[in-house]
Amino acid sequence: MMNYLELLKNRSSCRKYTNEPVSCEDLEKIIMAANAAPIGSSRTEDIHLTVVEDRAVLDKMAEAMERRREDKAAMANITEKIKDDNAKLKAKFDPFYGAPAVIFISHRKQDIQPGIEYCNVTTVALAMHLAATEMGLGSVFMWGSLEAMRMYPEYDNTAVLELPEGFEPLLGVAVGHRAAEPKDKELTADKLKVNYF
Ligand SMILES: Cc1cc2nc3c(=O)[nH]c(=O)nc-3n(C[C@H](O)[C@H](O)[C@H](O)COP(=O)(O)O)c2cc1C
Repeated sequence: MMNYLELLKNRSSCRKYTNEPVSCEDLEKIIMAANAAPIGSSRTEDIHLTVVEDRAVLDKMAEAMERRREDKAAMANITEKIKDDNAKLKAKFDPFYGAPAVIFISHRKQDIQPGIEYCNVTTVALAMHLAATEMGLGSVFMWGSLEAMRMYPEYDNTAVLELPEGFEPLLGVAVGHRAAEPKDKELTADKLKVNYF
C-alpha cells in the first residue's frame, strides 16, 4: 500500500491502455472509493454511476466529440495546440483512449445550490482516480465527450446510459491497465499561485 505522498507522485492521467479488462474485484474497489467521496449535504441520492465496458456504448458516447473535432472554430477556442492541418485531427479519435472501462458520474439536475453538482462529481472522480492509482491501474478524467454532447445536442447520445429521470452525466473516469509505466514525478508547491494573509 502506497503512502499518500507516494500515491501523488505516482498519479498521472493515463491515455494509453492495454486490452486487458479491469477485473470485477477491481471495479468494485473503485466503486467503493467513489462511495467514500465527500458529497455536499450528504445528498448521495443525487449521484448516479454508470460503468461502461461495452465498446458499442462508448462509441455512441464518442460521436459528439468526433463532431467537435470537425468544428475547427470550437477546437481553436479550446486548444491552440491542434491546428487545422494537424494529422492528429484527421485520424479517428477515441476520447476514451481505448480504455476497457469508463465510469460516468451523473448528477440530478438541480438549482438549489448552483454549481455544487460539478463539485460533487469531481470529488467522486478524484476518489476513483486515486484508488485506481493505488491499485496500479491507469485512469483519466473524461470531460470532453460529455461537453461535446452539450455543444451539439443532435449528437447527444446520453440516452444510451439509461439514467434515472432527471440525471445528467457530467464527468467520467476511464480506467484500465497502463500500456506503459508512469514516470515518478517530483512534488512541488509552486505550480499553483498562492497568496497568504
Ligand atoms: C475536470 C477535468 C476534466 C478532464 N477531462 C479530460 C478529458 O476529457 N480528456 C483527457 O484526456 N484528460 C482530461 N483531464 C485530465 C487533464 O488533462 C490532466 O489532469 C492534466 O493534463 C494534468 O495531467 P496529469 O493528470 O497527468 O497530472 C481532465 C482533468 C480534469 C481535472
